[in-house]
Amino acid sequence: MADTNAKLTVNGEEYELPIIKGTLGRPVIDIAALQDSGFWSYDPGFKVTAPVESKITYIDGGKGELLHRGYPIDQLANNAEYLEVAYALIHGDLPNAEQKADFFEKIRKHTGVHDQLRKFFEGFRRDAHPMAIMVGVVGALSAFYHEDLDVSNEDHREITAIRLIAKMPTLAAMSYKYSQGEPFMYPRNDFNYAENFLYMMFATPADIDYKTNDVITRAMDKIFTLHADHEQNASTSTVRLAGSTGANPYACIAAGIAALWGPSHGGANEAVLEMLDEIGSVENVPAFMEKVKSREVKLMGFGHRVYKNFDPRAQVMKETCDEVLAALGINDPKLELAMALEKIALEDPFFVERNLYPNVDFYSGIILKAIGIPTSMFTVIFALARTSGWISHWLEMHSAPFKIGRPRQLYTGETHRDFVKVENRK
Ligand code: SDX
Repeated sequence: MADTNAKLTVNGEEYELPIIKGTLGRPVIDIAALQDSGFWSYDPGFKVTAPVESKITYIDGGKGELLHRGYPIDQLANNAEYLEVAYALIHGDLPNAEQKADFFEKIRKHTGVHDQLRKFFEGFRRDAHPMAIMVGVVGALSAFYHEDLDVSNEDHREITAIRLIAKMPTLAAMSYKYSQGEPFMYPRNDFNYAENFLYMMFATPADIDYKTNDVITRAMDKIFTLHADHEQNASTSTVRLAGSTGANPYACIAAGIAALWGPSHGGANEAVLEMLDEIGSVENVPAFMEKVKSREVKLMGFGHRVYKNFDPRAQVMKETCDEVLAALGINDPKLELAMALEKIALEDPFFVERNLYPNVDFYSGIILKAIGIPTSMFTVIFALARTSGWISHWLEMHSAPFKIGRPRQLYTGETHRDFVKVENRK
């Protein structure tokens, strides 16, 4: 509901632009009236644009606050299971005992994949990046569920959300096994979500009783929760834009996976480990930081479009990192290196003036490496976890009327030219 109006005067015309307040955060100025003004709004990178209304996640970048359905991220990560958070993202609140049992059972029933899907992997080289496989295989899932692809059907939408959340760990583990030349492991539905994923990753037919210790399982589940959703980030906006065309949800999630892959977004966790490998030792940190300041390289895992204070997920991730390394008795020099980088960044004016703090990707890689997960799988795990966020935004979009997303542009190309035959062109 509009509360008051902003006024815009252009070309002698005055436009009343409604100001609409939400429950938290900045109000918005509805600029629909510009339609008749002869102007477009201009906002490269969508730095000050809110294209949607949402009830799922709230971020206060100044306070370093992240809420999912109103619950602070540290409370969820430290007390809830990832699937409970996934339920809340989709349904609006954490499940009660009965709802939890029902949702968990539905997920357990759908962790398997059609046997024909296994053949998709054989088309890839063994050294294919697992994200390349995930983009292909998740999009291909739509070929196996023709009977449930009517996006206007609420039951079809709900079963698809269950299938995607249930199958992502299976497909992610298959992409890893394929790269290792090891046989795929079938899901163990007597295990919880994180245990099952780690089982499918690291068990083999010769070691079918493989089971991780509880600290590792809990850490994995926390990492899933810390990556579950994050408002209108680039990949979630991609899922929404793809969904606005009426595309099936598997195609929309595949589009989200593709967008997440970039090193400025979900690909940063892999880039952090590559950066730490490049720096090598604490002695090399000052020279590296000079390269960052001269803009030769970026400090991967630092900075954020929204957080201009600490990323609350990074804090929980750091605590989890300490727990896992202690539980495994690992003294990883990369952690010492990461902490040296963080210390400098939090004190050096170059970083302080630009509000560059560690983000969710800075410590996650050190934990995943300690668990034995290869760097190439880091963004796959981000995609696995973010699937519940992506699909909750897709479901939210479909819960009310929507229009196809179709931005306009500032055109600065050639004006009118007459056609010239090739023999007469200079
Ligand atoms: C994720 O949007 C989300 O919510 C994403 C995410 C999610 O959960 O979905 O939180 C997940 O993507 C986290 C971010 C992971 N990416 C990285 O860690 C890559 C390194 N970070 C940067 O690429 C950058 O910080 C971004 C892309 C994350 C944010 O870039 P912005 O908001 O466009 O900021 P900017 O590029 O305008 O930078 C402002 C200034 C610039 O300095 P000047 O050139 O103006 O002097 O800060 C500098 C930038 O050069 N800067 C950095 C830097 N990030 C910004 N300088 C060095 N190292 C960096 N990491």
